Amino acid sequence: MRQRLVVGNWKMHGSLSGNTGLLSSVCLTAAGLSKAAVAVCVPFPYLSQAQTALRGTRLFLGAQNVSQYPNGAFTGEVSAAMLGDFGCRYVIVGHSERRQFFGEDDRVVALKTKTVLTAGMLPIVCVGELLAERESGVTEAVVGRQLAAVFDEVGAADMKNVVLAYEPVWAIGTGKTATPEQAQAVHAWLRAELAKRGGPAVAGIPVLYGGSVKAANAAELFSMPDVDGGLIGGASLVSAEFEAICMAADD
Ligand code: PGA
Repeated sequence: MRQRLVVGNWKMHGSLSGNTGLLSSVCLTAAGLSKAAVAVCVPFPYLSQAQTALRGTRLFLGAQNVSQYPNGAFTGEVSAAMLGDFGCRYVIVGHSERRQFFGEDDRVVALKTKTVLTAGMLPIVCVGELLAERESGVTEAVVGRQLAAVFDEVGAADMKNVVLAYEPVWAIGTGKTATPEQAQAVHAWLRAELAKRGGPAVAGIPVLYGGSVKAANAAELFSMPDVDGGLIGGASLVSAEFEAICMAADD
């Protein structure tokens, strides 16, 4: 059976003083799980704080973005090697908010994925369709195009170190979750694509669901055969909610 994974995406939230309590309670949650793995992807300035808080615990650390360049005159950018210095295991790439608000296209997302892999970390590659795309019946074409760009850059062999996250854009931060059946349908399609292009090892990578996952719907979503856990935004900032989601993944 594939391991379940729950990843908190704090987005642009947090404060030095507020993070302390949240990090320690999520560490406790992670310690209490027997099967599922848990990670938190914090804003860059808090990586050092989180690295210290997570040392010796079962909670993994991640970042939310990375430069596609290894180093150089790129003001404001953060390289994969820098994230590695702070003990990151995961890096989210291609989140729809990066695609929508910061102009990241499939090519940039593919380059960032490659950079993370080269630095020895695990990219969490996000794919997902807009509401208009779902309504016009092109969901598979859209996520297929997003996935193909990553395959083309990374190569089939290295895809086994990728975590894929299906996040329908219309479900992110809207309170409108995909039904378990809607999620399963896309996850199954993605897994078939992974198998077709990468063989059995790549077909077995974790495929997470993201988009308004909360304590109340997590168990149902995670009961789907091709949903291996979740990428959690808003609910990852509330320790009791996040704990319940992690417990649902561990069940
Ligand atoms: P949400 O965000 O859980 O707040 O909908 C998910 C995400 O953007 O990864």
